[in-house]
Amino acid sequence: MNRFEQIQQELREHPKKWLISGCAGFIGSNLLETLLKLDQTVVGLDNFATGYQHNLDEVRELVGSKRWASFSFIRGDIRDLNACQQAVQGIDYVLHQAALGSVPRSLEDPVTTNDVNVSGFLNMLVAARGAAVTSFVYAASSATYGDHPGLPKVEDRIGKPLSPYAVTKNVNELYAEVFARCYGFKTIGLRYFNVFGKRQDPNGAYAAVIPKWIAAMIRNEEVCINGDGETSRDFCFVENAVQANLLAATTSADNKNEIYNVAVSDITTLNELVGILKSTLGKHGIHYQKEIAYRDFRDGDVRQSQADVSKSAQRLGYAPEYRIGEGLNTAMSWYVGQHHGKRQA
Ligand SMILES: NC(=O)c1ccc[n+]([C@@H]2O[C@H](COP(=O)([O-])OP(=O)(O)OC[C@H]3O[C@@H](n4cnc5c(N)ncnc54)[C@H](O)[C@@H]3O)[C@@H](O)[C@H]2O)c1
Repeated sequence: MNRFEQIQQELREHPKKWLISGCAGFIGSNLLETLLKLDQTVVGLDNFATGYQHNLDEVRELVGSKRWASFSFIRGDIRDLNACQQAVQGIDYVLHQAALGSVPRSLEDPVTTNDVNVSGFLNMLVAARGAAVTSFVYAASSATYGDHPGLPKVEDRIGKPLSPYAVTKNVNELYAEVFARCYGFKTIGLRYFNVFGKRQDPNGAYAAVIPKWIAAMIRNEEVCINGDGETSRDFCFVENAVQANLLAATTSADNKNEIYNVAVSDITTLNELVGILKSTLGKHGIHYQKEIAYRDFRDGDVRQSQADVSKSAQRLGYAPEYRIGEGLNTAMSWYVGQHHGKRQA
């Protein structure tokens, strides 16, 4: 039995109470689904800034009404300390996901991104420490590697941030470190690298590349690549990120503050991604044949990104189960189902 299987068994036998901030969003709702299927008690906090009621509705359908009864939702804003304090009452593990994502959004509105991602984060830390939760796991980001040229990315070698968003995620790590140092409060930051999967929003100006391109291909619309297409990413299926969260929250390691990469350690260029998406959609009878459009590089984007996941593997027992092709095969029926107005697992 691997570490993740062991943890799941232990949680089933001894259920815990979890708080997921940002539970109506993409990663948060996938965490919610897994935890409820493991018969955990979950509190969710979200203000629906970029999350949706329909994500929660979908989880309710997938887990069934009995398990859904173990979930309670607080509609609130992490910029409101009272809401955070209400949410952390009696919680064992916090999985803090709420934030405003997207580099371009942060370039257009750095003030709001900072308010949510920095002040909101600090509120969550203060509230969680006040409630003496067992551990505080938070969504950090590969954006923190900034302009550091090293590949693959190793946790302790970061460069200068390339966007306001990257600054906020970097500041999260600094606050977490200071809370560990000054108050002995246990925090674990998970630096996600381009997570994808079901319930990731394909719409809007700030949509991530995978859901955006899948939606465009299904609708037979133009797909645009920023730059020459040789920009690369370490695309991480959401189930890998869920695994990392559960391992991090329950780790027995005594370290008060740690940062871990969460990805696969694969390199996929955007040109390769187009090919993988086309072939995966082809299995669903969708054959995209339009020419790909190339335009300027986008400000603030990191050129190459690939994670070294050996620290997560060694210390947490993290073993990503899905590479990009497997993740897309698993998620594609959901995207296709969405397009046809159906809800699918
Ligand atoms: N998706 C990725 O590839 C990726 C990569 C690196 C880091 N992250 C981080 O992971 C976390 C989750 O990202 P996601 O992709 O699920 O995004 P998402 O936008 O789908 O989810 C974020 C959730 O936070 C909620 N939220 C936003 N502001 C809030 C506020 N002020 N108060 C309460 N709730 C608020 C939103 O409504 C939404 O439900 C974020 O912290 C993000 O920065 C994501």
